[in-house]
Amino acid sequence: MRPLDEKNNEIAQLAVDTLAENKQFVRAVTSYADNHEILAREDIYSQNGIKLIPNGTRISKKFYDRLVAHKLLKPIEQSLAISDALDARRLVELTHAEAHRVPSLAPMLENRDLLDKMHGLLGDIQLPAPLALKLSVIRVDQPDFFQHCLITAMLSMVLALRANLSREELRALALASIFHDLGETCIAPDIFAPQHKITEAEYRHLYTHPITGYLMLHEFSEIPEETAIAVLQHHERLDGSGYPYRLPGEQIGKVSRFLAVAEFCSSLLQRYGADKRIQLKLWLNRSRYDKQAMEVLFKLFADTDCPLPKSPNEAILMTRLTRIGKIFEDWRTLREGFSAADVDAISYFIKRVNSLQMLLLEFGFDKARIDEILSLSSVGDPEICMEINILIEELARGFKDLYGEVQRKIAIYGSTLETSVRERVHDWLMRACLLADDKVQ
Ligand SMILES: [Fe+2]
Ligand SMILES: [Fe+2]
Repeated sequence: MRPLDEKNNEIAQLAVDTLAENKQFVRAVTSYADNHEILAREDIYSQNGIKLIPNGTRISKKFYDRLVAHKLLKPIEQSLAISDALDARRLVELTHAEAHRVPSLAPMLENRDLLDKMHGLLGDIQLPAPLALKLSVIRVDQPDFFQHCLITAMLSMVLALRANLSREELRALALASIFHDLGETCIAPDIFAPQHKITEAEYRHLYTHPITGYLMLHEFSEIPEETAIAVLQHHERLDGSGYPYRLPGEQIGKVSRFLAVAEFCSSLLQRYGADKRIQLKLWLNRSRYDKQAMEVLFKLFADTDCPLPKSPNEAILMTRLTRIGKIFEDWRTLREGFSAADVDAISYFIKRVNSLQMLLLEFGFDKARIDEILSLSSVGDPEICMEINILIEELARGFKDLYGEVQRKIAIYGSTLETSVRERVHDWLMRACLLADDKVQ
């Protein structure tokens, strides 16, 4: 599926508009230019023909207002030249250095010739100048984001080499890993702040970033098409719960699947380090990700000694577990009131809620066990506390994903569902999101 297909016009148009008005990158590049030499390598024009900056001008912060006051004829990075841009060789070295700087990754990288293999795969790739400039700026402007890309690249290489992917697949995957979140560089980083409440418009931007990234890469002949496709599909999941297109497993390419696994693991490692939570999270999500890549990952972690994390607050955990129990009790009551036609209309939503309920059962948290745990005045067992904590986090994520789909106006309730039933289901979902949320007491 291509992003500019007829039926995807609306979401693709948002990506195109986002690219044309990339104020975030204009801010980043003009700030960066205050300390690094960046020159206009051609006249920079607005879409309506106004010359904004002449060829040869040294860029600085003072040009920001002028540049964002207009829609630019071309993405800004195509009109600029930087003297010390990152190249592929340097990227490989940075990736390797980053992986060894993260203590939880070091034990997994015992393969000493990994660096040589990465150099062999990537060293001769000529990065298109606009992309090299982008990476150089992002490295300084958003170091955590840059680190995420490098760790993802290292993990994807370890997985793909162990799974014997072909040389073409390895090259496509390595590039896709480094560039996978390029589309996020168009989004104001504030929306990722933990306390920020995401608006409907921000949700749509967030869910469009794989398409924006695809569009940024697709135009360069040096970048394999498989790389651009993998970036487009890196948030698609085998059970169809991903985005932007909710593709079923068989429509997600192999390189995309490996990227998705590496990206998921990289996010977990950045968040938790390699403690026992990560193995649980991987296991709980195994049906959403590529089986072969997950098997390699499980083997990697099996060889790694992961410690237990510090126990979360037991009283808060117990309160949240009670809430989860209540959410599913309310769902059962609601579900009993559905007519056969309702069940038909809302089958997708029911399937998703059922899979969340399955998480509880897979973890052994049936109602009897929840009651048993709650009847103890203090759990005291750090392993059980960790399990409950992860379970609650996963359920909260599941509810929020569903809510995110509503925000993106995806017909998850089905178009033929009666309004009164739709309102009750939506009300339940809103409460589920709030109750599962950490911040609500
Ligand atoms: Fe990512
Ligand atoms: Fe992403």
